[in-house]
Parts: sequence; structure tokens; C-alpha cells
Amino acid sequence: MKKLNLLIIGGGGREHALAWKLKQSPHVGTLYVAPGNGGTEKLAINVPVDDNDANALCHFARKNQIDLTIVGPETPLAAGITDIFHTAGLRVFGPSRLAAQLESSKAFAKGFMTDHNIPTAAYATFTRYDAARDYLARQSGALVVKASGLAAGKGVILCDDVAEAEAALYDIMVQRRFGNAGNQVVIEERLTGPELSLLAFTDGQTVAPMLPARDHKRAYDHNQGPNTGGMGAYTPPAGVDDDMVAHIVRTVLQPVVTGMAERRMPYVGVLYAGMILTPAGPKVLEFNCRFGDPETQVILPMLAGDLLEIMLACLDGTLTPTMVQPLPGACAAIVMASPGYPGAYPKGLPISGVDDAEREEGVIVFHAGTTRVNDRLETSGGRVLAVTALGDTVAAAAQRAYAGIAHIHFDNAHYRRDIGLDG
Ligand code: AMP
Ligand code: GLY
Repeated sequence: MKKLNLLIIGGGGREHALAWKLKQSPHVGTLYVAPGNGGTEKLAINVPVDDNDANALCHFARKNQIDLTIVGPETPLAAGITDIFHTAGLRVFGPSRLAAQLESSKAFAKGFMTDHNIPTAAYATFTRYDAARDYLARQSGALVVKASGLAAGKGVILCDDVAEAEAALYDIMVQRRFGNAGNQVVIEERLTGPELSLLAFTDGQTVAPMLPARDHKRAYDHNQGPNTGGMGAYTPPAGVDDDMVAHIVRTVLQPVVTGMAERRMPYVGVLYAGMILTPAGPKVLEFNCRFGDPETQVILPMLAGDLLEIMLACLDGTLTPTMVQPLPGACAAIVMASPGYPGAYPKGLPISGVDDAEREEGVIVFHAGTTRVNDRLETSGGRVLAVTALGDTVAAAAQRAYAGIAHIHFDNAHYRRDIGLDG
């Protein structure tokens, strides 16, 4: 096979992990990341193009003989970057704009799940504030109020009672805290139980699941504080065996892929189901139309085989579940975040100790919000690093990741201290 030039779109920890894994493929020629970060710069060529500028990215791909573009984040997918590349005759890994609605519109996703009998929290959707408020007045118990559109993982407000839900609704629809993402809201029952992320590759028909993973969305230890993009992850979560994964494929992922094909919006790429394992079985909280962050940082180091071959099989319609096999053992990633994240945070803090961390056995440091300024590494985003480690068990992997963190310093770095240690 001729070597392929690749372009990865995005600049977070997920994209660093994608670059790290793809770089191991013997089929990869030149690897570019747009815009990339201080970590991707070491294994690929960073391209200073904004990840939301689809036309500029398309132009770059043509000019540089890119054979395959891989889209990391949801925003360009929701805006139709895949469709733009296809129109230009370029190969791209990621679902079309219509297929990406599973993530970009929670109202679409909920309606789809109802139509296809996919288990999810009971819900109602509203575009008018007064109708939503009247509905709330007739509810009781714990509820969740969600902006329907994309809000960087932050548009979800967990409420203990109706009064809190009324305040959340006011915030989203009247104060417009998440802007246009809150033009429509979803109000749902609040489920309880452990969370699970299951990601799968799909070619539009066949579903090949990756290892299940557990993300940690809350900012502080013991799941306190505000929701974030994710403060750490590990795989495999205790108690989630092959039968459970097969059950989720059968009841959730396969019905999505089959249902989208029936609706003539074939879903090709990575499909991510975020679920709660309730006493009545797994129920879907959300779909994402892409790899998760930080789940990717723990799933890809545990993926046997060649990621590029799997992606090409998705595009060619030749995917088989046996192509996606896990390695034995476990992996944990702890996110080091800027002080203040997920709120406002400073940038430009010098970072030291990353090389020392990587000298610890089994440790890989994936960069997210970092940049190199005259060879000095600095913070440039909310989530700065995902310090990742492999081990025989989740607890052993997490201990190694924390041993890695002990070497790293930037002012007032914030990270959770409770991830994976009891696994
Ligand atoms: P979402 O973006 O919809 O996945 O929501 C973000 C986070 O909010 C999830 O990972 C859960 O921790 C929490 N969440 C969302 N919906 C619910 C629900 N119905 N019940 C309990 N927690 C939820
Ligand atoms: N870790 C959650 C997400 O990627 O959406």
C-alpha cells in the first residue's frame, strides 16, 4: 500500500492521542495536525489553521496531497466539514452534517431514540420558555435541564428539585447563558448509577466497539463541582464485561447505525454513546459523533492493530468487528487543568517536568492546552495535559499516572486525585 499523507483536525489531547497512534502505522507518510499543540508538534507538522475554518482546511488538504483527513472535534462536523471535503473529492473520516445531528441536536437525538426504541431518560423538549415552565410546574424529583445545541460539554444543568430546574431553565432560555444552543431545551428525568462511555467504529452498517471507558465529568474529587469536558478517564471499568458491551451494541449502537441508514443519513466514523448503568439497564444520556476526550487517551493506547487500516475499512464499507481488538491490561489518564477551569483561567504559565514524567514506566503525556514558545512549554487552554499510564489493573495504571504527575509543574495546576485508584 502506498504511504498516505494524513491531516488531523483539532488541537486537544484527543488529537495528540490520534496522532500518536496513527504515527505507529507503517502506511502513514507525512502527518499534519491543524492546529495541533505543543505535544503534536513533536510527532507531526502543526498547521496554523483554525479547526473551524473548513474551507481553509480543504484548500490545505488539496495543496498538500492529503490522502485522508481525520476530524477530531464536533463543531466542524456539525458544521458539515465532511460534506465540504466530499464535494471537493477528498477523503475524510467523520460523519456528515446530517449524521452529526445525533450530537449537535439533543432534541434530534431524543426523538431518534424514541422512534427506534433505544433506552434513554424520559424527557420533553421545548422551544418556548413559558411552555417549559408550565411543564416543570407539573414535575417532581430530580431533573436535568439541557441546552439542545452544542455547548462544549457544559450545557447540562443537574438539578435536585423543581425549583433548581426552574432556575436552570431561566438561565438557559431567558438569560441565554449558552447563547443559541439554548433556543431549544431538553428536560429529562435525572438517572442514577455509574456512567459508561462506549465508542465504536462504524462503516455505516457494521459496528465494531472499542473498549468501554469511564470519564469523570465533574471538576472536583468525589464528583463534586461543575461539569467539565472531562477530568480523567480509565479503561476497562469494573463490572462491564463482554456481555454488557454486546448488550449495548445490540440495544443502542446497532439500532442507531441501522436507523440512520434507513433515514438516508448513513453514519460513518466513530459513534460514542454516553450512558448511565441504571438498575433497569444501560440508558443513553447523549451521543457524540466523534472520539471522546479524554476517553481516546486511554482507549487508543489499548487498541491492538493499525488505526489507519480500521479507519480506511470504515470508509470502504469493509469493517469487521474482529479488526478492533483490545490489548490486555488497563489504562488511566488524569487531566491536569488550568486554575479556574471550567471557568475563566490564565494562559501562558510555564510548564516543567513533562520529560521526567514520561521516563516513569508506562507513562505517556498527551498534551491538550499547551504551546511551545521559543522551546519553552506553556499553558494555552483549560485542559492542559492528560497524564496517561498503562498498567496491569486500573489502579496500577492510575498510580503510575499520578507518579507521572508528581514530576510536572505549572502554577496552581488543578487535577482530581481520586481517579481510578479504587479500580
Ligand atoms: P450530556 O452532555 O448530555 O452527556 O451530559 C453531561 C453529563 O451530565 C453526563 O455525563 C452526566 O454526568 C450528566 N447527565 C446528563 N443527563 C443526565 C441524566 N438524565 N441523569 C443524570 N445525569 C445526567
Ligand atoms: N469526554 C466527553 C466527551 O468527549 O464528550
